[in-house]
Amino acid sequence: MDYLKIFSPATVANVSCGFDSLGFAVEAVGDEMTFTKTAEKGVKITQITGANLTYNVDENVASAVVKKILLKANANFGIELTIHKGFSPGSGLGSSAASAAGAAFGVNQFLKNKYSELELTKFAMFGEEVACGSQIADNVAAAIYGGFVLVRSYNPLEIVKLPVPKKLRVVAIHPQIEVKTKDARAVLPTEIPLKDAVTQWANVGGLIAGLYTENYELISNSLVDIIVEPHRKKLIPHFDDVKNAALNAGALGAGISGSGPTIFALCKGNKIAKKVHKAIEEAYKNTGIDFEMFTSKVNAEGMKIL
Ligand code: HSE
Repeated sequence: MDYLKIFSPATVANVSCGFDSLGFAVEAVGDEMTFTKTAEKGVKITQITGANLTYNVDENVASAVVKKILLKANANFGIELTIHKGFSPGSGLGSSAASAAGAAFGVNQFLKNKYSELELTKFAMFGEEVACGSQIADNVAAAIYGGFVLVRSYNPLEIVKLPVPKKLRVVAIHPQIEVKTKDARAVLPTEIPLKDAVTQWANVGGLIAGLYTENYELISNSLVDIIVEPHRKKLIPHFDDVKNAALNAGALGAGISGSGPTIFALCKGNKIAKKVHKAIEEAYKNTGIDFEMFTSKVNAEGMKIL
């Protein structure tokens, strides 16, 4: 194989209650990347479209990951990359994760799938570190494994793939402002009261039980974040209006996608998703802030070879 084209999905990390430990992949939005095998060793980016990103191979998340894997595998070939960003960096939809995870998945195909999904997640976490300074796994694991994932442990890394209830739909609004993950992490408290921790971990348990049993009411009751959202929502103009509009229109729950500013709502079925999409659009259209929206299924597969 000398050439490969892949789709690497956008992802929603945290999923309200699961800060740094829950995430899911989106079907409708993602990046496309191509990989061309070269006789010359090393990595080169030949084209980036859809976003203004660096071609410097050590600073670009995708090439940094490819370089790391090629070195680790002692590969006797190189890779030329093209990257088409299907959504903006700084959106909260796992843009750097899509690049990092896509890079890890793509190069692994040229290595006869030498590395497991868990190992690819570790390589992709290195890409997250290049992007934001922290080795966060929730976005990259969701992109690599597909569906919902739980980062059960960071040390050692353990990823649990969770089921996707069939009727689950996600509606998302991306206000056209940028929130840097680093900044969104800086506003968080370093310590939390025990009673808040109890509420939060009970919600994580409830959400996971709801996913396994397709219990939409339990999912809805559990989509609550009392630890991170109260601090981060201040960085997102009109967050409460969007959330209230989504809930009033029948969403199961709504929250901040990753570190924002994208706001996501989970819904049961297409009909409610359509109503929620419209309600959010109405709530935002007179704010004077440009926005993009999508409605999507949860992407149960993750990466796709095109
Ligand atoms: N879990 C991370 C956060 C996702 O919320 O900061 C962003 O990469």
